[in-house]
Amino acid sequence: MRRKLAAGNWKMNGLAAQLAEIDALVAACPAPGCDVLICPPATLLAPMAARAAGSAVAVGGQDCHRNASGAHTGEVSAEMLADAGATAVILGHSERRADHDESDAAVAAKTEAAWRAGLLAIVCVGETEAERDAGQALNVVSRQLAGSLPEGCTAANLVVAYEPVWAIGTGRTPSNDDIAEMHVHMRKELTARFGEEAAGMRLLYGGSVKPGNAAEIFGLSDVDGGLVGGASLKAADFAGIVDAA
Ligand code: G3P
Repeated sequence: MRRKLAAGNWKMNGLAAQLAEIDALVAACPAPGCDVLICPPATLLAPMAARAAGSAVAVGGQDCHRNASGAHTGEVSAEMLADAGATAVILGHSERRADHDESDAAVAAKTEAAWRAGLLAIVCVGETEAERDAGQALNVVSRQLAGSLPEGCTAANLVVAYEPVWAIGTGRTPSNDDIAEMHVHMRKELTARFGEEAAGMRLLYGGSVKPGNAAEIFGLSDVDGGLVGGASLKAADFAGIVDAA
């Protein structure tokens, strides 16, 4: 039985004043029926982890460097995330793939770095609108999974998030049939590569998840929760999504 995961990605949003949202989320979710994770910008990781300590809310990073330390100005390593209190890290988000030219191979290297630091890797995949219109969505995601996941993926060290690029921050979502089709497809691909272990891997949907559509989406075949952007910034909205999970 896979325990659902409600994960929030604050992206480049949040100043110290927004840490009050974490206090509110902790208060709103004393004993959630799913795992709850918030990934703030790196500057808020340590104070957020301190405020969430002892609660059901875990904190994570949004990216990491493949190396543990060294001459890489501006970068943050997985070890630093863990040191700041993170237990997970989002990798290969489409915004990083697009804005920082992150390749599948780079994402695979970062996934291994996350494991080295003891972090859960949340690896993102997803097609563009042009790729879906061309009937290539399943192929694109297969290719991203093949290239972005290193050997050694287990149910304990990996979560895959399917985020169609065209659904992120747009208020648009794929049809329920399309979401279910993709998640069943991903499970098949993971099973072909990692065997029975894949049955326990959690597969998240991301892209315009809101309190109003979360329960329906999380109820679809092979959907084990969500990776949420905008609606994770306010505790009241995210608590609704946690309830749905
Ligand atoms: O990583 C979460 C994300 O890309 C989805 O963003 O704002 O559409 O929920 P949003």
